[in-house]
Amino acid sequence: MKEFYDITRWLEERGAVHSIPRVESLPSPTFRMGGEEHVSFSTNNYLGLATHPRMIERACDGLRRYGVGNCESRLLGGDLDIYHALENKLAAMKDKDSALLFATGYLTNLGALSALVKVNQCARVYGYRSKGRQSYAYFTDELNHVSIREGIRLSGADRISYRHLDLDHLESLLKTSTATGRIIVTDGVFSQDGDIAPLPELLTLADRYDAMVYVDDAHGTGVLGATGGGITEYFGITDPRLICMGTLSKAYGAIGGFVATDQSIADLLRLTCTAYGFTSTLPPDQALAVSEAIDIIRDEPERHRNLWDNQRYFVERMQDLPYTLVSTLTPIVPVLIGDEAEADRLSLQLRDAGMHVDSVKFPAVARGQGRLRVILNAGHTRAQIDRLVDVFRAASMGMQQAA
Ligand SMILES: Cc1ncc(COP(=O)(O)O)c(C=O)c1O
Repeated sequence: MKEFYDITRWLEERGAVHSIPRVESLPSPTFRMGGEEHVSFSTNNYLGLATHPRMIERACDGLRRYGVGNCESRLLGGDLDIYHALENKLAAMKDKDSALLFATGYLTNLGALSALVKVNQCARVYGYRSKGRQSYAYFTDELNHVSIREGIRLSGADRISYRHLDLDHLESLLKTSTATGRIIVTDGVFSQDGDIAPLPELLTLADRYDAMVYVDDAHGTGVLGATGGGITEYFGITDPRLICMGTLSKAYGAIGGFVATDQSIADLLRLTCTAYGFTSTLPPDQALAVSEAIDIIRDEPERHRNLWDNQRYFVERMQDLPYTLVSTLTPIVPVLIGDEAEADRLSLQLRDAGMHVDSVKFPAVARGQGRLRVILNAGHTRAQIDRLVDVFRAASMGMQQAA
């Protein structure tokens, strides 16, 4: 018991236990904090759908029809028809045969990654015997989301990490691997850097080394591609080696996660994945709201257009300032500050000016890579973006004077 107190004190003394600001409403993209209105440049509610009247109406409909929660798992009485309808819609969007819904995106990665490599083990229960010994390895980009890391850890398979986006490094690791089952895992859009995985090249490597590619399209779904179909639409890719994972909690403004795959892998996951079958499902109202979100994105293309117009406007305006933008390919445009204390100071300065931008630091990014992770939103006005750029400009002058 004492050790817990000692560790907490030790971390507190080093400033590692930070206070998280409390908010009184959710960003869309304005929100209330400390009794005042702020503009969020940190929200994943990219298209402002979380508060869209059609979403709310559909969720209320779900609440009236089904109640607040399902209270059942998919395998035991909770297999509602509306989940199948949503799974079919998600599979069609990703050009896959089938999709499986999960209660959150985090759980999707934990469940799917830990189950994929247990297929053999599970089939043995039914008497299946494979020829020779099976061994599995995940090849994972070093900057992948923590839920991927945890999913791989739970799987018990080998975890082979490759340098961020370094295809040569990945190939050298694939070449020397003796695993009989190989799965390359990558974020589609990297959540802290905002860059995009080179999916076509990853699939070429997968083909060469008989691997599969599992892409976590949490930040791409609803955002990338001409109609928001995600990273597969962005690159114009359909490939049987590809497993697409996504969350429903970002551009779709709700909660939940999914994987979309070919039929045989979907069937195996339904059998082996305990996080799919042995836990309560996402609430029915959320499934209906997500289905509505997909329709809204189709019916109101201006949301997607505004998001990208705002992204381009911010990037263009920042070009004149002495900052390095970590990436400019997606609505996540992190402004590199380096010194973590300086990043925190700037975040507070922005908050004083009524804007919320997350200061991201170790362990979310490497030491000395402190940054302000700006996330553009369809609902931002030009005036709000101008105000953000003005604070960055004023801060850069202060930093130059101090240097
Ligand atoms: C890349 C990535 N994958 C998975 C998740 C988890 O998704 P959820 O918040 O829906 O559980 C996140 C959340 O931020 C993410 O950024």
